[in-house]
Amino acid sequence: MIKGIINYSHYLLETAVEKGDTVIDATCGNGHDTLFLSKLVGETGHVFGFDIQEQAVINTQNRLTKNRLTNTDIIQDSHSNFIHHIPVDKLTRLGGAIFNLGYLPGSDKSIITRSESTILAIEGILSHLKQNGLVVLVIYHGHEGGTEEKEQLMRYTRLLDQKMFHVLYYGFINQKNDPPFILAIQKRN
Ligand SMILES: C[S@@+](CC[C@H](N)C(=O)[O-])C[C@H]1O[C@@H](n2cnc3c(N)ncnc32)[C@H](O)[C@@H]1O
Repeated sequence: MIKGIINYSHYLLETAVEKGDTVIDATCGNGHDTLFLSKLVGETGHVFGFDIQEQAVINTQNRLTKNRLTNTDIIQDSHSNFIHHIPVDKLTRLGGAIFNLGYLPGSDKSIITRSESTILAIEGILSHLKQNGLVVLVIYHGHEGGTEEKEQLMRYTRLLDQKMFHVLYYGFINQKNDPPFILAIQKRN
């Protein structure tokens, strides 16, 4: 079966990330991706999760506690400030990151990810990523402000040097109502 968007985003990370790696959940929300990443990197790895909303940080922390996972730091700050929160020894093992863009389901729909900070964060993460490391963007764009972010990200990723990065597009082109899609960026050898 063709994998759905969330399953495929996790599948891609499974192929690239190794046990012991450092990974970033750039938009924790309710912590589903953080939980997945925490299990993926194992006890020797570490997840740094970011969200600007206090409620998202609480929800994510609760989910991790319920699952007794302790290899995580959940930080209430913009992903564009990630560099200030990750110690150098962990940064050198950066194997992957996920951005689940848009707004927090069941919350204030006016608090959305924005292209400026998203691209700033991606750029910083790409410069620290290990070879073969992967950044996955899950792009929801049906909400107000979503089209602008989608277009900026398409423009930015199309211009990434193909000698340095593979950029993959994955999406369902016959679905109605602005379905989400994936852009995945892999750092080449
Ligand atoms: C689609 S939700 C993420 C869903 C999440 N991955 C999950 O599993 O529940 C997007 C999240 O991005 C957060 N966000 C918006 N701007 C942000 C920023 N600059 N830095 C970090 N998080 C941000 C929002 O607060 C929201 O919780």
